[in-house]
Parts: sequence; C-alpha cells; structure tokens
Amino acid sequence: MVDLDTSVRGSILRIGEASVVESFVRIKFSGGLGDVVIGNRCNINSGTVIYSGHGVRLGNNVLIAANCTLAASNHEYEDGERPIREQGLRPSKGGIIVEDDVWIASNCLILDGARIGKGAVIGAGSLVRGEVKPYTVMGGNPLKILGYRRGHEPHSPPAKARSLLAQVK
Ligand SMILES: CC(C)(COP(=O)(O)OP(=O)(O)OC[C@H]1O[C@@H](n2cnc3c(N)ncnc32)[C@H](O)[C@@H]1OP(=O)(O)O)[C@@H](O)C(=O)NCCC(=O)NCCS
Repeated sequence: MVDLDTSVRGSILRIGEASVVESFVRIKFSGGLGDVVIGNRCNINSGTVIYSGHGVRLGNNVLIAANCTLAASNHEYEDGERPIREQGLRPSKGGIIVEDDVWIASNCLILDGARIGKGAVIGAGSLVRGEVKPYTVMGGNPLKILGYRRGHEPHSPPAKARSLLAQVK
C-alpha cells in the first residue's frame, strides 16, 4: 500500500534498517534530482508525502506522524507572463535535512532549506522553512520555540558537567 516511486534519472531511494514506512505514504521523485535517504529505526506514518526535490535526508530514529508533507523544492514563479509549469524550479536551498531523534508531529509542512537539528520536536500543524536548533520544541506558523527537551535548556550545563554535579550531590 506504500506508494514508492522507482528512482528517476539516477536519484536514490534508501530506507535504513528497521525503518517502517506505513500504508498510504507517498514518496515521489519530482521537482529535482535529489535523493531520498531514510536512516535506521525511522517511522513514517500514513498520509505523509515526500517530494524528493533537491533531496531529503532523514537521520536515525526519526518519527514522522500522519499527514506531513516534505517538499524539498519550489516551482519558479517570477515571470508573470508565462505559466508556472513552464518556468522550471527555483534554485535549490539545499533540500531538507532532518537529524537523528527528531519527532515531526501530525500535519506538518517542511520546506526546501529546512534543517531540523538533532533531538528537536516539531509540534502538530507547524511550518518549517529554515534552521531548527537541536533539542528545541518548536511549533506553529510562524514557527516559535515552545520549550526545550530536558537537559538542553539554554542555560543548562553541558552533559559532562551535569554528570559531575550528579556525583557531588
Ligand atoms: C508540541 C507538543 C508535543 C507539546 O505538548 P505539551 O508539552 O503537552 O505542550 P502544551 O500543550 O502544554 O503547550 C505548551 C505551549 O505550546 C503551545 N503549543 C503546543 N503545541 C503547539 C503546536 N503544535 N503549535 C503551536 N503551539 C503549540 C501551546 O499553545 C502552549 O502555549 P501557551 O503556554 O502559550 O499556552 C504537542 O502540543 C503536539 O503538537 N503534539 C503532537 C501530537 C501528534 O501529532 N501526535 C501524533 C502521534 S505521533
């Protein structure tokens, strides 16, 4: 039931070990020549659509909830005298990169140029266009910081210092 395009013009689709791509996920090779690379132990839920565009890379342990769209390219649209469909693509912003241990909740939209840092959480219904800092909890449109995962608050001591402090207590 998963709808996976075969790769086109040399693009690669790679799905890592123990990753699950649920029914009614669509991975479509269009809008560029980028690869779609999914790491290990990822889960992509139903209704999610991935347009390969300029490339989509998911790290390991990435969770994508239902009905998300990852659109890694944009149509060129500037010329108002010609149909958009004849104008090709806008220059690449680098595709979409999602680092390890990220949770993207339901109904999110991730655009070309998005870089979601390790450990981040993207709340339901969010629009992501640029950089998301590691271990932040983000949500909304425009995206804003909702919080931080424990141990990664802005002024929390680095992991090594925390373990030393724990020994002292
Ligand atoms: C992001 C999320 C995990 C945060 O949950 P939480 O820690 O319980 O946070 P709260 O509900 O206490 O909300 C904290 C604040 O963030 C805001 N917020 C929460 N989720 C938000 C979202 N998706 N978009 C925008 N703002 C959001 C709340 O309005 C609240 O703001 P306030 O303090 O100004 O009132 C949760 O809201 C969410 O989006 N869950 C996704 C569920 C889902 O898609 N599940 C699919 C199964 S995999």
